[in-house]
Amino acid sequence: MDSLLIKGGLPLHGEVAISGAKNAVLPILAATLLTSEPCVIRRVPNLSDVRFMGQILTWLGAEVRFDNGSVRVQARKLKGTGEYDLIRKMRGSICIMGPLLARLHKATVSLPGGCVIGARPINLHLKGFEALGARVVIEGGYVHASAKRLVGSPMFLGGRAGSTVLGTANVMMAATLAEGVTIIESAACEPEVVDLAAFLNSMGAKIAGAGSPTITVTGVKMLHGAEHEVIPDRIEAATYAIAAAMTNGEVKLRGARADHMHAVLDKLTDAGATIQRNGTGLTVSRKGRLKPVDITTLPYSGFPTDVQAQMMALMAVTPGISIITERIFESRFMHVSELTRLGADIEIEGPSAIVKGGKPLSGAPVMASDLRASAALVLAGLAARGTTQVNRVYHIDRGYEQIDNKLRQLGARIERIEDS
Ligand code: EPU
Repeated sequence: MDSLLIKGGLPLHGEVAISGAKNAVLPILAATLLTSEPCVIRRVPNLSDVRFMGQILTWLGAEVRFDNGSVRVQARKLKGTGEYDLIRKMRGSICIMGPLLARLHKATVSLPGGCVIGARPINLHLKGFEALGARVVIEGGYVHASAKRLVGSPMFLGGRAGSTVLGTANVMMAATLAEGVTIIESAACEPEVVDLAAFLNSMGAKIAGAGSPTITVTGVKMLHGAEHEVIPDRIEAATYAIAAAMTNGEVKLRGARADHMHAVLDKLTDAGATIQRNGTGLTVSRKGRLKPVDITTLPYSGFPTDVQAQMMALMAVTPGISIITERIFESRFMHVSELTRLGADIEIEGPSAIVKGGKPLSGAPVMASDLRASAALVLAGLAARGTTQVNRVYHIDRGYEQIDNKLRQLGARIERIEDS
């Protein structure tokens, strides 16, 4: 397993290109299964999760061709069963279920289990399919959904922590080919849902209200091929923004969309960073002292759970006490013990982490446990004295395109140690 070796203490300076959004491209790739015609998706990040989704589509019978930042998919014929071992490996693959159900009227996928950030149930996805008239049975580790016909219906998809991103995506995709009108209440408002709706509409779907808590889908008979450019990754952009603030640097995030990042930019400003918006992205810098901020993760447009760990790394080097409360996933604090290994002073109290920041961090070997936790460790390593070795970086390669090269371009001393 590869690891990253970081010699910290240098401010980051320069420009970094923000890649296409992982969490937008995964459901968009699944949506290509809704038509037998070819679809071309552009600004596709070269990530292990994305290549993996390509394998799943191929396994289902689609022709998939990756070509220098774009993917062409044509799903002339499909089978309705997702292979157990393939689906199990990546939770995002659950979003093939809606398209398979819409196109074949049946879908069988392995039931995703829990993961390190929490239980991650799919009851709301299934509730939505049932509201469209599907019969859902869980048997032998698989979820089977089938329907003679899918019929549009009003439904409420709110759950314990609010809306569900992939649940909204999944049900929205299934509803595109249902008869009549589907109204999803408590729909997720994330930009990735809006991007998926834009792609589906360019395929001939009739979706209104994406980006608001009420999405209306008027079913159509069939969808056609389309081309689409994926939105920039707001989580990747936020991670580099925090890196700039943490290291006292100045980084231009080329292609970043400030309008997708209000909550993060607002907190970074409160923490002492300067944000300049310009036509082609935004620039984040920090000259003065850092200030502690309290954060609570919430569904969009609240502070994203996917930036919680990185923000905790920033607060660890910020003098004063900040309280970070995680409201989306129940156990998304795996980074705390590893940040502590670098010298951070953090205590967990229920859903909150109390960060007593400002203690100097010093490099150590640490273990990446999930994607965003690994990003937090890389950030901490950039700010720490000495050398930090982040092990198990396959987690970070799932969601950050060429993070080592991008950071090196910004002046960081970071190198990948490949497992021989
Ligand atoms: N939930 C349910 N029932 C469901 C679905 C979700 O109770 O049927 C709960 C979850 O347990 C959680 C909350 O609802 O408490 C929100 O989960 P959501 O369904 O929105 O998460 P997701 O769609 O499975 C996506 C991203 C995650 C991101 C979350 C929240 C993808 C591929 N994944 O997951 O991204 O954290 O939305 O914004 O889009 C990451 O990129 O590191 C990552 C984990």
